[in-house]
Amino acid sequence: MTDTYTPLPITVIVPTFNEGPNVAELVRRLGDALPADSTVLFVDDSKDDTPQIIEQVAETASLRVLMIHRTEPIGGLSGAVVEGLQKAEADGARWMVVMDGDLQHPPELVPELVAQGVDAGADVVVTSRYMGSGDAGGLDGPLRKFVSRASGALARSMFPVRLRNVTDPMTGFFAVRAGAVDVSVLRPMGFKILLEILARQALKVVEVPFVFGERFGGESKASFANGMKYVQQLMALRFGRLSPFAVIGVVGTILNLAIVWALNDAGSMNYLPAVIIANAATIVTNFLLQERFVFHDLRQGSSVWRRFVESFTFNGVEAVVRTLLLWWIVEQAIPQPLLVQAMLIFLAFIVRFVFHARVVYRQSAIKEPVDELAA
Ligand code: GDD
Ligand code: MN
Repeated sequence: MTDTYTPLPITVIVPTFNEGPNVAELVRRLGDALPADSTVLFVDDSKDDTPQIIEQVAETASLRVLMIHRTEPIGGLSGAVVEGLQKAEADGARWMVVMDGDLQHPPELVPELVAQGVDAGADVVVTSRYMGSGDAGGLDGPLRKFVSRASGALARSMFPVRLRNVTDPMTGFFAVRAGAVDVSVLRPMGFKILLEILARQALKVVEVPFVFGERFGGESKASFANGMKYVQQLMALRFGRLSPFAVIGVVGTILNLAIVWALNDAGSMNYLPAVIIANAATIVTNFLLQERFVFHDLRQGSSVWRRFVESFTFNGVEAVVRTLLLWWIVEQAIPQPLLVQAMLIFLAFIVRFVFHARVVYRQSAIKEPVDELAA
């Protein structure tokens, strides 16, 4: 622990979802650790009596306690943190420290984070369980520990430059210097707000080791769905929209070839009707998957039927052209329908992506934020 005095207005941002039993203890320990002009800002999405508890605790707290209670929460935990950062900065905080509300992050470390940030002239100070004296202790179970390490390693291998000094990009405990982060480029989703912040812009980062403690009260909100959101977030951060589109293309291709194989090779159907059935089936599955995973945030402002008709028309015409080509190539040159089908699907892929991005999911009024990933 450092004894450096940090005479800076600090706002501690605490996202909460049903954390009632932890509020009083967290505020008490923060009050002991921080200068009296500090603020604790809860960004609360709770469905229980947590907001009332926060209001009660605020009355007797030794530091200023504020709350944003969101009745229509956008962006989950990450969205809450972004709202907190914006409000704290607008209120004049010089440093913002984001931490969980369940005391797994030691409040006593908050002044140290800010002091280290000031000393190093950093934009962001990240706490790490995976350096020096850090430890992931309170993560329950070997599975959670493995997932945490593996997802961190994946993120670091996808962002070798931006995350080169970051051993724990998954942590939810970090400090941000006011003015350092451009909040407008963030697209918060899921749990991993720090990754979003570090991946979208070039920032000066320092790390401080810490021991991840046990939950004080209540229960964890981490879920499998959050894990899936994480993978989606990583792909979107790294590749923009092409990558999930490619994954769906691969899934569709496998399905398509499996149907052709089952009907034509295993069954004894002629290859032409087999290919036509496979094409029709995958046009529909591809559309449903890409609605859900690729263009899910660009769907507003047009009806699903309009998109389906445009997508289906394009894919239908494309499938007819491709089937005629297939027939011609199989009859004239390569008498292996499965192989030819695979080649033609591959060639059609790029054309299909361009059409969907430029036409079906075109953005008339909304402008696409530019990802600054050229690091
Ligand atoms: N406002 C808001 N909205 N807060 C939320 C939401 C939400 O939808 N979901 C969770 N929270 C709050 C919780 O109330 C808690 O204060 C904090 O976010 C972290 O949630 P936990 O349920 O305690 O998550 P965890 O302990 O499993 O995960 C923590 O450790 C991970 C590292 O392994 C978090 O800090 C993660 O961000 C971190 O990656
Ligand atoms: Mn927790």
